[in-house]
Amino acid sequence: MHPKATVRVANSMAALDRVLTSIESGRRTAPDWIHIQGRCRLDGLVDAERQALLRRLHACVLRGFKTPVEVGSTASERLALWRSIARNGFHDFGTQGFTKCYGSPFIEDYDYVGAYLENGLAGIDPYRIYSAILGSHDYTIEDFLQTPTCEKIDTVVEPMAGTGEFGHCSHFRHPELRYILFDLDETAREAVLARPWLEGADREYRIGNVLDPQVWRDVRSASRGNSLAYIGKQSHNLFDTRQLYDLLALGTSHVDHFILETPEPSLVQDLAPIDDLTRPEMADAGFHAALIEDERNAPNPFTNQLGFRMEVWDEDETRVLFEYPKWRAWQPPTLVALAELLDLEVLYLNDAVGDFVPVDACGSTRQPGDRVESIDHSEAHDGVGFMLFRRRS
Ligand SMILES: C[S@@+](CC[C@H](N)C(=O)[O-])C[C@H]1O[C@@H](n2cnc3c(N)ncnc32)[C@H](O)[C@@H]1O
Repeated sequence: MHPKATVRVANSMAALDRVLTSIESGRRTAPDWIHIQGRCRLDGLVDAERQALLRRLHACVLRGFKTPVEVGSTASERLALWRSIARNGFHDFGTQGFTKCYGSPFIEDYDYVGAYLENGLAGIDPYRIYSAILGSHDYTIEDFLQTPTCEKIDTVVEPMAGTGEFGHCSHFRHPELRYILFDLDETAREAVLARPWLEGADREYRIGNVLDPQVWRDVRSASRGNSLAYIGKQSHNLFDTRQLYDLLALGTSHVDHFILETPEPSLVQDLAPIDDLTRPEMADAGFHAALIEDERNAPNPFTNQLGFRMEVWDEDETRVLFEYPKWRAWQPPTLVALAELLDLEVLYLNDAVGDFVPVDACGSTRQPGDRVESIDHSEAHDGVGFMLFRRRS
């Protein structure tokens, strides 16, 4: 949770009612979070009562609520509780609790499990599964705007946006910014545009190839002021060396700040062949999801190339949702080397400093005898880092 987040606590249903009433009446402002704990429980309510309470909660929190996992409940009880929360505007796809987009007035339906219960694996929406297990829910443009390096941004570009969580969620907190999303995938575009956006939101979702110079020229013409592009989920790993070089050159020529989500340094041969991403509500409904190594493209420690697919399965069948046959797990030193060839400045987000810091300064605070275990990216972002590339001014 962000250190400056505001929290209200309710230990009983009566206390929760008092908290909500004080916010509804305008006596208190909405906090980021409400912690529901002790004798205050959502699971004891009948569905209609819970729905009414969740709707009040939705209007009274900016980010969401936290509630302990109830032990001893059955799979069907847990699933019913999860589905009723998800249908009423909150999900726990990130790591922070049950959330909605910051300050969003829209009660979105996040229940992707109902489609499975009705029609089995054939019924599920691949984009909703992607969003539940891989979507970026823990950070938004706010995390970058809080840094002195990126505090003055007018346009947010999300290339290779896919399900576009970053742009969509960011716009609720910063509706004053212009949002330009693009991807090759028309179905993803439709799914993102079908989500609720604030009236008057300055946003568009284009169809375009991130390696096409004309696409970037168009993006630059459509941008205003200072621009920042963010590519999430390490999607630049879809590219080979030449393409990655071109991507860095194009991005940094057409936006002011070009940010990639990058992994903690790792060896491809150490990656688990199956990364089981099954969420509790999936298991309770009877299916599983994982990223599974492509047997024909085993990890190559020289090239860092590997292949994998996103798969779901249940007792009866298996379905492949997305395939990534050529994925290069580009490591930070290689990205820095390419940036040096292009004479770019490279910084990384160091949360302890609260800013993007030149990569050359990494480790400079180390004392003799200290071991460098990992890059001090952050605690909040759990296993990922953010590298910023820009032209030297
Ligand atoms: C792994 S998904 C990541 C989606 C999103 N960035 C996120 O953080 O969840 C990769 C996305 O890149 C898109 N993509 C692949 N090649 C592309 C290209 N050459 N130009 C634009 N988009 C591309 C795919 O359609 C897909 O939506």
